[in-house]
Amino acid sequence: MSLFDQVPAVPPDGTFALVEAYRADDHHLKVNLTPGIYRDENAKPWVLPSVKQARAALLADQSLNHDILPQLGHTQFLSAARQLAFKDTLDGRFVTSIQTISGTGANHFIASLLASHLHPKAVWIPDPTWDNHQGIWRHVDPGIERRTYPYYDENTFGIDGDALLSTLREQANPGDAIILHACAHNPTGVDPSPELWEGIAQVCEEKGLFPIFDLAYQGFATGDVDNDAWAVRHFTTRSSGNNNNNNTPLEFAVAQSFSKSFGLYSERVGALHVVARTRDGAAKVDGVLKRISRAEITSMPAFGARIVAAVLHDPVLEAQWRQDLKTMSGRLASMRKRLYEELVRRGTPGRWGHVLTDIGMFSMTGLSPEKVAAIKDRFHVYLLPNGRLSFTGLTEGNVEYVAESIYQIVVHQ
Ligand SMILES: Cc1ncc(COP(=O)(O)O)c(C=O)c1O
Repeated sequence: MSLFDQVPAVPPDGTFALVEAYRADDHHLKVNLTPGIYRDENAKPWVLPSVKQARAALLADQSLNHDILPQLGHTQFLSAARQLAFKDTLDGRFVTSIQTISGTGANHFIASLLASHLHPKAVWIPDPTWDNHQGIWRHVDPGIERRTYPYYDENTFGIDGDALLSTLREQANPGDAIILHACAHNPTGVDPSPELWEGIAQVCEEKGLFPIFDLAYQGFATGDVDNDAWAVRHFTTRSSGNNNNNNTPLEFAVAQSFSKSFGLYSERVGALHVVARTRDGAAKVDGVLKRISRAEITSMPAFGARIVAAVLHDPVLEAQWRQDLKTMSGRLASMRKRLYEELVRRGTPGRWGHVLTDIGMFSMTGLSPEKVAAIKDRFHVYLLPNGRLSFTGLTEGNVEYVAESIYQIVVHQ
């Protein structure tokens, strides 16, 4: 008998289990299209040239020490992170920023802050979404209802904006939180138009919802960090009254990750920004976030934050980094084109045009879980069970094989 006999048996995490299955697969043609992690043209991890230079300079710096960081995190990193997210839209706004353990930690901190102090009845999560949104909120407070709002229309491979807005309008309650992917929606690759963002902002204002922007792919959607922050900055400026609307200004949060945009997956670099209506509100948020951070981490790791700060505070390195983003988003765009061409050339049944117009790392293939299992078993091509394909694993060397595998599975399975 063990005390832990009563503990539930938790099934392995689906995404990590697939990565393990891929590793164990010894087929010479295997292709991994599951991870949201950038790979180069040889399907290998890529260290961004800007990051490589910043890292080399840091390692050469004999004065670098290993002192503990301030409670909010690395100061220059935080100022750069904030500038990247909001640029010059913060006039008259009161923002608290804290360093976090990457995007996951930023999502976790805001969930903890809201759960312990604002007590939302529900958090609204897009359907579908990054799996961990459910996991983080379940972990932080299982008493907060995790409700989903319609996002993706499987028939059009686009967003069902009407259903999204009407669900929130009819069913959300004041004080509820809502998670919004700021750009490059995971897993669908489809983002709201500016008009739909406007509608979402309006519903948030009318219903008194608390928006949480998950900003995990800034620079990946369009290759341009400013374009990709459009929605965040729109919420900031409309809430500051810059657009002359008379609604109560929105308060909201941005959970920012540097995993993808700097290729710093293992360094766990992130930030949480909370935009408050008053100076006093922001000061209180500051206190609570410090307390959460103290209890959970004590002090954030420094190395990744130092790299990001070094790049973003140096005009030459920053210019290189913007180029690096274009390299990554450009390679993904060219793989989209190649897969589309190969699917169409074979006459693969289905609609594939969205593969060209979706943005970021992912598209939905429309393959059922059965077909996803079959393509893995027969062709050793790995996708997520919901049919999400990550373009990061595609290369000139395997794109024809992948297209042929999809064709065979769609036609013959
Ligand atoms: C939508 C979304 N949010 C957040 C994250 C968090 O990533 P990380 O914790 O590595 O920054 C991811 C990673 O895949 C994601 O897709």
